[in-house]
Amino acid sequence: MALQRFLVAFVVVSVLFSCVNALSSNYYDKTCPKAESTITQVVKKAMSSDKTVPAALLRMHFHDCFVRGCDGSVLLNSTKNNQAEKDGPPNISLHAFHVIDTAKKEIENMCPGVVSCADILAVAARDAVTLSGGPTWAVPKGRKDGRISKASETRQLPGPTFNISQLQQSFSQRGLSLDDLVALSGGHTLGFSHCSSFENRIHNFDKKNDVDPTLDVSFAANLKKVCPVKNTMKNAGSTLDTTTFLFDNVYYKLVMKKKGIFSSDSTLLTNSRAKTLVSNFATSQNEFFKAFASSMIKMSSISGSAQEIRHDCRFVN
Ligand code: HEM
Ligand SMILES: *[C@@H]1O[C@H](CO)[C@@H](O)[C@H](O)[C@H]1NC(C)=O
Ligand SMILES: *[C@@H]1O[C@H](CO)[C@@H](O)[C@H](O)[C@H]1NC(C)=O
Ligand SMILES: *[C@@H]1O[C@H](CO)[C@@H](O)[C@H](O)[C@H]1NC(C)=O
Repeated sequence: MALQRFLVAFVVVSVLFSCVNALSSNYYDKTCPKAESTITQVVKKAMSSDKTVPAALLRMHFHDCFVRGCDGSVLLNSTKNNQAEKDGPPNISLHAFHVIDTAKKEIENMCPGVVSCADILAVAARDAVTLSGGPTWAVPKGRKDGRISKASETRQLPGPTFNISQLQQSFSQRGLSLDDLVALSGGHTLGFSHCSSFENRIHNFDKKNDVDPTLDVSFAANLKKVCPVKNTMKNAGSTLDTTTFLFDNVYYKLVMKKKGIFSSDSTLLTNSRAKTLVSNFATSQNEFFKAFASSMIKMSSISGSAQEIRHDCRFVN
């Protein structure tokens, strides 16, 4: 009797565990030991011919995790009957899908059907940070790939005009704290923004001000120059910090000086705890790196309800 009850309990517990899909950093040690080093090599090579690759990979992973959990949904191509996330509105900066494709192809040749596209993206995002001078960390793996990707769901992403309470809500819905928000915003140490993501701040801001008064005056004047009212250059815009290709803490120094590009960056100064963290990270790159690594692990563990290991990252099986 006791043994029977024990066995039932054992089965229930193991079923529960397999549903939760716990991630682990040594997930592929036996099934595909070279997966991770292959991804690193592919990212390294892609960066050497295109310096914009790291920023693209980091942002892509963020998007992936914030829509349906980190399930590779951002990687799927649109089909005849479905417009995918990557073809939804805030897609102008999504690129570097080819890097994931290359890594996937090499890994499929070694260990077919084993490594998920969602895991490849999570590792590639970490490599992008590390190879740009940022911190490193062990990436938990074991994600599955989803079968659903909808352009309309990119509306669930936080927008650049969000204030602190809207950002906090968006992050807490995904189990991320205010501290995670401040640390992960440091991802804006890499990359570029198109005018459309911040032009509301520099033209016709509100009834009283043409320019957002929380912006540094000369910084705003420069942004106006690259993004005039009648902007005819589709790719015009600004780098997110002054050391675009380096993963460092300069982003926080700029936010402190009212030179954060987006309202969502500047608004970090409107909450006292967030402001304290921004100031700490501006002073100590080491503190930022530690916080960023631990918040990335949290973000990249947001789970979805995915089930499969895709053969091709652009298509469901
Ligand atoms: C807090 C909420 C966030 C908002 C509102 C936001 C918004 C944006 C916007 C509007 C852009 C520019 C898109 C364009 O115009 O091309 C951008 C770029 C970028 N974001 Fe964020 N973001 C947020 C959080 C994050 C997080 C958590 C990460 C990663 C940890 C991240 C990494 C990046 C990177 C690397 C770029 C540059 C992309 C490139 O140059 O290809 N962002 N973000
Ligand atoms: C996926 O979509 C992209 C962009 O629309 C296109 O260039 C590419 O050829 C598609 N990939 C495949 C394998 O069909
Ligand atoms: C981006 O999204 C817009 C709006 O949904 C779409 O018309 C466009 O084709 C997409 N662009 C890219 C490069 O995917
Ligand atoms: C943030 O924006 C929302 C929506 O516009 C508004 O209701 C809220 O009061 C704002 N919060 C702060 C702290 O400004």
